[in-house]
Amino acid sequence: MEAPLSERARVTVPVVRAKKRRLGADPIVMITAYDDPFARLVDAAGVDVILVGDTLGEIVLGYGDTLHVELADMVRHVGAVARGRTHALVVADMPWMSYHTDPYEAARNASALVRAGADCVKLEGGRRRTGAVEAIVAAEIPVMGHLGLTPQSVHAMGGYRVQGRVLAEAQSLVDEAVALEKAGCFSVVLEGVPEALAERVTGELEIPTIGIGAGPSCDGQVLVLHDLLGMSKRPPPKFVRRYAEVGEIVTAAVARYGEDVRAGRFPGVEESYHASEELRAGLAGGADRAGGPGPGDELQW
Ligand code: KIV
Repeated sequence: MEAPLSERARVTVPVVRAKKRRLGADPIVMITAYDDPFARLVDAAGVDVILVGDTLGEIVLGYGDTLHVELADMVRHVGAVARGRTHALVVADMPWMSYHTDPYEAARNASALVRAGADCVKLEGGRRRTGAVEAIVAAEIPVMGHLGLTPQSVHAMGGYRVQGRVLAEAQSLVDEAVALEKAGCFSVVLEGVPEALAERVTGELEIPTIGIGAGPSCDGQVLVLHDLLGMSKRPPPKFVRRYAEVGEIVTAAVARYGEDVRAGRFPGVEESYHASEELRAGLAGGADRAGGPGPGDELQW
């Protein structure tokens, strides 16, 4: 029988590295989170991996892409997520231009994310990024790769498009995945690729693949939390399954609060602090006699 969540051991990189379904492992469950409250909630739900994705830029900071996210943004949000989790592995996305120019710089930037609380980092791209991967791994920081539809390449791709639809492209993607594995990645995210290609890559690699819009054959799945909860303003991509309409719940709750305030129903007697008789009398008479705390005031502020 599976241990209750509170007794589960912390998920580590070697645990995730070993999760190949063809070897009998359960699929990896990964989800994004960007702050302490959601990190606590998704950890309590028993996910294996929390990704502090650079979708932070779109989902939380309101930008139209991930390119505006800076290392300082990631450091701040990785810290919040790390403080909220108890069991899940925390993966930090390396933002655009934090690993593109110099492997040494890439390792230093990765170390800032680890110091903030990440267990490992994720970066986008294949052969062109193996220098960065090797430098980061040499600094003892595990790296998750990311291939296919890589959102930091939005301009080079000419938009957010499914990748690897033609054979030459698909074969090249298999080679990129093998190159990442050789460079030392412990897993690879496959985003926006045909399911048959994801299946081929998953079969080719010893390390696990984690799919998003890549079909059911991967060794794990990842989704953006706010897409799954019905809370993001971007139209949900085809591969998203909405498990709740939390956005509607939030709007309805806040609307009810607004109605109560406007109608004078909030705050009520039980939501107010009460004065002692002495204080009431003093206030009513305009005297400067002050009383002690009123009934119930000692309970909670
Ligand atoms: O930034 C992110 O949220 C991601 C996932 C979409 C895999 O990279």
